[in-house]
Amino acid sequence: MEIRVKQLNLPALFEAHRSEILEAITRVCETSSFIGGSDLKKFEKDFAGWVGEGLFALGCANGTDAITLAALSLKLPAGSEAIVPAMTYLATVEGLENAGLTVRLVDIDPGTWLLDSRLIGASLTNQTRLIVPVHLYGQMADMDAVSQIAQKNNCRVLEDASQAHGAKWNGRSVGHFSDFATFSFYPGKNLGAFGDAGAILSRHQNLIEISRLLANHGSRVKYEHEIPGWNSRLDNLQAAVLNVKLKYLSEWNDKRRLVAKFYDESLKGIKSVTLPTVRKEAFHVYHQYVIAVENREKFLERMKEKGVEVGIHYPKALHQLPAYKKWSQLSFPCAEKLAAQGVSLPMCPTLKASELDIVVKAIYDYSRSL
Ligand SMILES: Cc1ncc(COP(=O)(O)O)c(C=O)c1O
Repeated sequence: MEIRVKQLNLPALFEAHRSEILEAITRVCETSSFIGGSDLKKFEKDFAGWVGEGLFALGCANGTDAITLAALSLKLPAGSEAIVPAMTYLATVEGLENAGLTVRLVDIDPGTWLLDSRLIGASLTNQTRLIVPVHLYGQMADMDAVSQIAQKNNCRVLEDASQAHGAKWNGRSVGHFSDFATFSFYPGKNLGAFGDAGAILSRHQNLIEISRLLANHGSRVKYEHEIPGWNSRLDNLQAAVLNVKLKYLSEWNDKRRLVAKFYDESLKGIKSVTLPTVRKEAFHVYHQYVIAVENREKFLERMKEKGVEVGIHYPKALHQLPAYKKWSQLSFPCAEKLAAQGVSLPMCPTLKASELDIVVKAIYDYSRSL
C-alpha cells in the first residue's frame, strides 16, 4: 500500500510558505553575506525573544555542537560527571562526551518517559556537576524537581531542548530553569532549517559569549585567536530560512497541539494502546505524539497495510546501542519498554482531518484484530 498519511510532511510545509522562503534565500545570495550576516543577528535576537524574556542566544552549526559548546562554557572541573536520561537521541551523550564529561544514565519516568527525577539521587557521586534533562517529544521534564536537586547538590543544569521549541513548565519557558538550553533545527524539528543548524540559549550573557568564542575558532576579531575552539557557526542562509519559519512557529505548535488533542480524544480507552502522559505543569509542543503498543510488530504491519507512515523514536535505549557497549550490562526497564513499544504517530502542522481519520481508523482496526 502506498503512503496515504506521512509521519511528517516537510514538502507541504515548504509549499505553504514557498515564495517567502525563496525570497529570503535569494536576498542572501544577492548580497552573498553567507557568514555572520544580518539574518543571523536577527535570528539570535528574535529566537531568544520568542522562547522567553531575558534570554540570550547563539546560533551554531547543529544541536550536538550546541550541547558541547554549552557544556564547555561551564568550565567544569576535569572528571566531572553528567546525569542523562537513558532514553534520548544519542547526540545528547555525544555532545557531553565531546566536552570531556563522563555520562551517567538514569531511567525515565514510566508515565511521561522523561528523566525520572526520583532516581537522580541514587546516581549522584561526588563528581556529579551537571544534570541534563531532555525535553523529549516536546514535553519539559519536571524542572521543579531537577532545579531543587541541582541546587542542593551544587550541580549546573543544561536542558536539551532539541525537541522542545516553545515548551513550558508552569508557564515558564526552557532556559529559565538552567544555565543553558540547547536546540536543534534539524529539518524535521518543530522549527527546522534547510540542513543542519542549532542554537544555545541562556539567561547569562557571559556564558553565551564564551560559547560564541568557542564556536568561532576562539576568535572575536578576525585572526585574533584567544582560545582554541572550532567552527560551529550557523550559516546566514539557514538563519534567513529560520527567520521566515519563526514567524509561523507559534501557529504550527498550536496545530500540533490540536492534532494531539484529536488523538487523545479519539484513542482514549482503546485496547493495548497507551497514550502519552502529560503533566499538568507542562505545555507540550508535540514534536512527536508517541504511544506505546504491546504488539508493535503487528501494529507496524497494520499501519503499513493502511498506508499510515509511523516512526520509532527510538528503537534502542542508549545502553542498548552498539556505540555504548560500555553500558550494555546496565538495565533501565522503563527506557527499554519504551524502546520496545513506542510508536510515533503522524505529527505535522499540515495534517488534514481526513488524514487523521485514516490514522485513527487504522489504529482501531489493529486493536480489533488482537
Ligand atoms: C534530543 C536531541 N538531542 C540532540 C540532538 C542533536 O541535534 P543535531 O541533529 O542538530 O545535531 C537531537 C536532534 O536530532 C535531539 O533530538
